[in-house]
Amino acid sequence: MPVDITLTVNGVAYPLSVDPHASLLRTVRDDVGLTGAKEGCDDSECGACMMLVDGRPTNACSYLAVQADGSSVTTVEGLADGDRLAPLQEAFLVQGGVQCGFCTPGMLVSATALLARNPAPTEDEIRTAVSGNLCRCTGYDGIVRAIADAAARGSS
Ligand code: FES
Ligand code: FES
Repeated sequence: MPVDITLTVNGVAYPLSVDPHASLLRTVRDDVGLTGAKEGCDDSECGACMMLVDGRPTNACSYLAVQADGSSVTTVEGLADGDRLAPLQEAFLVQGGVQCGFCTPGMLVSATALLARNPAPTEDEIRTAVSGNLCRCTGYDGIVRAIADAAARGSS
């Protein structure tokens, strides 16, 4: 039996009727229509699906949509201001933090959460914050540089 829930995604409330076993990732991609968060492992291993749920970095593949009922969800689409990239996104481009881009939405979401709780992280703290995000292109140095750059400029 479908369950009625309301998800607020990037500030917009979506009343939805979902399968009780549907993941937050599938619901946001298929029902809300935001496909920035990716499905990699579908098993909490890669971080490609990372979203903020009430500010907490969450592997959306392993989180039920019904668990997020009433929550505020932020996806990578919610980081930019319209067509204007967030400073963190610009830093990823400038510092070479993007190769194929598959991991990038999850990396950006994890980094956003880090800078929100710790605006001046050390390199170790940055590496720890994105340790749940796998990059198959092995672009970690550029990613870490980008997060440090955004932090140094005092913005996420
Ligand atoms: S798809 Fe969710 S952690 Fe890999
Ligand atoms: S840039 Fe390709 S997986 Fe990270």
